[in-house]
Amino acid sequence: MSVTAIVGAQWGDEGKGRIIDYLAQRADVVIRFQGGDNAGHTVVNEFGRHALHLVPSGIFNPSTQNIIGTGCVVNPQSLLAEMEGLAAAGINCDNLWISTRAQMVMPYHPILDVLEEKARGKDSIGTTKRGIGPAYSDKSARSGLRIGDLLHPDWLEIRLDNALRTVNRKIEILGGEPVEGQEVFALLMEFREKLGDRIVDTTPMVRRFLETRADILLEGQLGVMRDLDWGIYPYVTSSNPTATFAPSGAGLPARCIDEVIGVVKAYSTAVGDGPFPTELFDDEGEKLREIGQEYGATTGRPRRCGWFDGVAISYAAWLNGMTGLAITKLDVLDHFEHIKVCTGYRLPSGEIVTDTMPDTPILYEVSPVYESWDGWLSSTSHCRSWDDLPEQARVYIQRLSELAGVPIAYVSVGAEREQMFAV
Ligand code: GDP
Ligand code: IMO
Ligand code: MG
Repeated sequence: MSVTAIVGAQWGDEGKGRIIDYLAQRADVVIRFQGGDNAGHTVVNEFGRHALHLVPSGIFNPSTQNIIGTGCVVNPQSLLAEMEGLAAAGINCDNLWISTRAQMVMPYHPILDVLEEKARGKDSIGTTKRGIGPAYSDKSARSGLRIGDLLHPDWLEIRLDNALRTVNRKIEILGGEPVEGQEVFALLMEFREKLGDRIVDTTPMVRRFLETRADILLEGQLGVMRDLDWGIYPYVTSSNPTATFAPSGAGLPARCIDEVIGVVKAYSTAVGDGPFPTELFDDEGEKLREIGQEYGATTGRPRRCGWFDGVAISYAAWLNGMTGLAITKLDVLDHFEHIKVCTGYRLPSGEIVTDTMPDTPILYEVSPVYESWDGWLSSTSHCRSWDDLPEQARVYIQRLSELAGVPIAYVSVGAEREQMFAV
């Protein structure tokens, strides 16, 4: 009987998928509110291990409805591939709905993404190359096509003609091969055939859930440090992963959110370019990557690893209005004799900042101020309650909570559904 936003509190890949899979066991509906198939939300449960890209992480619970919300950009081709993969593993996708108003990632958007990244040269963003930036750019430029357009072929054809006039010129300028309108249209008609029944105006459904006081989970993608407005611009995604934007992307009134759970790893990781103050370039970083298996769920890229960033969590907690933290991957730290936590950034002037996030050019120049904690050097993966945790692990995560100024709501000690508990 509440509306809970689940958001990434760092640079993405915090373990949002596993938290949502766990919470969805009691949710009536899960709504993805932004992003596209740049997401890779890993869920490990009785159905196996699945990296979800567009399908909300409530799909494993047969009584939960799953909505890809208006704030998302949807690549129908990759959605269909994902649904096929789920069906092959025995997961029923009958409860999956797509908002008519969600934007479509068109076949030319990934082409543009690759060409634009190439043109950026050494200043590339390190995107997932899924066409996310170009799709959101077209949305803002009002030349995007929406998923609901598939239901109106005459309108779709006019919109496509219109879009291609600029798109093909852009592709040519950037040195690519223009796309053929007829071919794209034929492909879109295939998508209509395969997805048509799931493309609905989700507003009445969402409104009914809210009015009947259902349990609603709002699933975010990525994390605050890559938010279009509040992240390390321009090394960000093209949408807003912060909770403030969740009701808008889901089609809910702003004041409806009851809880905001910030998902946070017990250390830091990032994929893609841009400043990352606590990044480790030594054996400790390598150890985090290997024990944590820190490789991108979408692109397979090795993730950059570092110690927990207290400045970033304080910023994330404030911006999101977090009511609770879900701390993941605590077990990865089982193997460390000493664990560091960044509590401030030293600016080139010598001043230390703790409660503001410096802007991107400054962030490149800060050095993290660390405090060091003793590790617990014992396994936490079997722990199923706060009291099961080693004393030193409790002290450590209490410190993370103190830096965030937010209480701990959940702790995860392994990727499996049951390796998690409420606090
Ligand atoms: P998301 O994008 O935020 O959903 O996170 P990802 O799925 O991209 O990355 C998180 C990775 O950590 C996945 O491989 C998960 O299976 C794994 N994972 C999640 N929670 C835990 C945990 O508590 N312990 C361990 N060892 N792995 C975890
Ligand atoms: P989940 O939801 C981690 C990063 C890319 C790049 C920047 C922009 O699994 O946490 P984009 O393709 O969105 O234009 O890339 O954002 N990025 C992610 N990093 N997890 C993700 O999703 C990401 N989605 C995008 O690496 O730096
Ligand atoms: Mg991920």
